[in-house]
Amino acid sequence: MRILLVGATGTIGKAIASVLESLGDEVIGVGHSSGERSVDLANAEALRRFFDATGALDAVVCAAGVAQFGSVQELNDEAYDSSIANKLMGQVNLVRFGRGAVREGGSFTLTTGTLSVRPTPGTAAVAMASGGVESFVRAAALDLRGRYRVNAVSPGWVAESRQAIGLAPMPGIWAADLARCYVRLVHGDATGQIVEAEE
Ligand SMILES: NC(=O)c1ccc[n+]([C@@H]2O[C@H](COP(=O)([O-])OP(=O)(O)OC[C@H]3O[C@@H](n4cnc5c(N)ncnc54)[C@H](OP(=O)(O)O)[C@@H]3O)[C@@H](O)[C@H]2O)c1
Repeated sequence: MRILLVGATGTIGKAIASVLESLGDEVIGVGHSSGERSVDLANAEALRRFFDATGALDAVVCAAGVAQFGSVQELNDEAYDSSIANKLMGQVNLVRFGRGAVREGGSFTLTTGTLSVRPTPGTAAVAMASGGVESFVRAAALDLRGRYRVNAVSPGWVAESRQAIGLAPMPGIWAADLARCYVRLVHGDATGQIVEAEE
């Protein structure tokens, strides 16, 4: 398969690329500030133009999406706006604008996070953005059924991300184990599914 992977330079994205490539897929990796190719999820016009140059694809996988942490008392207009533009609408727009590039029968696999259903204090915007993506996935899959599959992986805390801030890796999920959830959705036949992946 020829697969566009947004967030390919990240902790989760690198692991997804590695598993897909080990299975013989061609991965077109895209970063934001690094890597050969880049795109800004938060820039809708750039994203629309981006798909003019990708060529034909079998699947789009997104392992990117930024939302702002902070309590309801702390989050300002900009924090909500940027969370919506990036993690929520950025991923919605991958499906909207990517349809022209993805062959019929192809798929979109997005990324949310378990804070959408099990929030902790200080995560209102993050939970909101992930919850929005999950609702979009369930509804879009109905509209696109038979033409495109749309799913999301909802990770818990990734072990490598815990280590990066000095925590013990557990309770967490290793990126390589998480990557297999994405690959099962890309290579399978599910649609409208939110796959939770924790330790
Ligand atoms: N890590 C966790 O514990 C965890 C848990 C639950 C959910 N998630 C979600 O999983 C996703 C990936 O997490 P991660 O830990 O792998 O993140 P990461 O290591 O920080 O990597 C983020 C990736 O997204 C790219 N990116 C950043 N801003 C972007 C933008 N505006 N447009 C397009 N691409 C952009 C980065 O590109 P550059 O490297 O070029 O900047 C990088 O490839 C995020 O949505 C995150 O919320 C992560």
